[in-house]
Amino acid sequence: MTSRRKAIQSISLGALALSAWPGTNAAAADMPLADDPEYWKKVREQFMLAKDKVFFNPGTVGAMPRVVFDRMVEHLRYIGTDVADWAYKNDNAEEFISGYNNLLTIRTKVAALINGTVPEIAMTDNVTNSMNYIANGITLQPGDEIITTDQEHGGGLGGWQVKEKRYGAVLKLVPVPKPAKSSSEVYDAIVKAFTPKTKVLMISHMITGSGMIVPAKELCAEASRRGIFTILDGAQNIGQMKVDVKDLGCDAYVGCFHKWMGGPAGTGFMYVKADRIKDIWTTVASYRWNQHEDEGFRFTQRGTGSFPVLKGLEASIDFHNEIGPEKVYGRIKFLGERLRNGLRANKKVKIFSPADEAMCAGITVYKVDGLTGTQMQDTFWAKAKMRPRSQGDTYGVRHCTHIFNSPEEIDQAIAIVNGMA
Ligand SMILES: Cc1ncc(COP(=O)(O)O)c(C=O)c1O
Repeated sequence: MTSRRKAIQSISLGALALSAWPGTNAAAADMPLADDPEYWKKVREQFMLAKDKVFFNPGTVGAMPRVVFDRMVEHLRYIGTDVADWAYKNDNAEEFISGYNNLLTIRTKVAALINGTVPEIAMTDNVTNSMNYIANGITLQPGDEIITTDQEHGGGLGGWQVKEKRYGAVLKLVPVPKPAKSSSEVYDAIVKAFTPKTKVLMISHMITGSGMIVPAKELCAEASRRGIFTILDGAQNIGQMKVDVKDLGCDAYVGCFHKWMGGPAGTGFMYVKADRIKDIWTTVASYRWNQHEDEGFRFTQRGTGSFPVLKGLEASIDFHNEIGPEKVYGRIKFLGERLRNGLRANKKVKIFSPADEAMCAGITVYKVDGLTGTQMQDTFWAKAKMRPRSQGDTYGVRHCTHIFNSPEEIDQAIAIVNGMA
């Protein structure tokens, strides 16, 4: 089936499911056919991003495809117009507020995206929420150890710092090289830190400040062999690379849609393996706090929330699937590698992303000798309205490449770096 026909079919199925509210969006029907020589140019046209600006920072917050924006606005309009239609007869069917609805359709799509099952998936607002639900909900004794790295994002780490301070757990931040030379170097550093007291391994699946893909599968296998609960922080992976939680063998995985997936801000999820989720206490408790027949719903029921952002999130998954996760990853990697190859040719550029291309995808962190991150960031903007993100004085900039970028933009960025150096 051509991708255009698939898009049209999914729209008509969507229209059936949403027959209670007016208007579905047909933007995805404009998607190019897979063999279109102008494929990526036409994909770029699906984004609302201003044509005179070049966005290199989906590692912080993504650019939304138009269909995401439209789906959100339509649902907002629906609520604004028809909230009186709400008859309070079926929380799971009526879509005026989230927080009480089991969000089965969306959770099914998230489950399919990461190869989990629906009861293993809870919807949250972001990665920080998800990680805190796990850190706060897991039972640890004083002296129990949590192993992580010295390169975690504060949103992944904070909940464990609370755990240490409040319950006497011991949080160990294992130094990991930046740049790393090999996966085995990272693996060895972490495994060496395991002791008989280690109860939790929490680690980013992709390190935010270097773009390093960690040897997550191998680490989870070794940790599990020792009875250690494993959690991967996938903030930078979801929407960038294919994630298969069963293959990774982790006990828990947390992620968001507002970065690489191009969903609206305030959309995240938490996955915990079926046989482990029952032991995680509810943090934000409502009616279902102790109901275990749908564990993911127990965590999803968190009080009134916004349905339009969930509609946008759902549209972002549809858009991603319409292109295909492998194809998205292939393009991101192609552009990332093109950037790194260009940078490697300049001796005045230091790259903090791993030297081994197998450990890199769409995030490249680098610094031009003698310049701060802010100076580099400002030069990109002044020269070409390009927006990578400063990493401060030591690490230069984090430069993300995504499907809305082009090889020409990468080449121009390299020329600007060469000009700076
Ligand atoms: C690895 C990692 N973990 C956690 C977070 C926090 O994500 P959120 O703002 O969705 O809570 C980020 C954000 O950049 C991140 O890169």
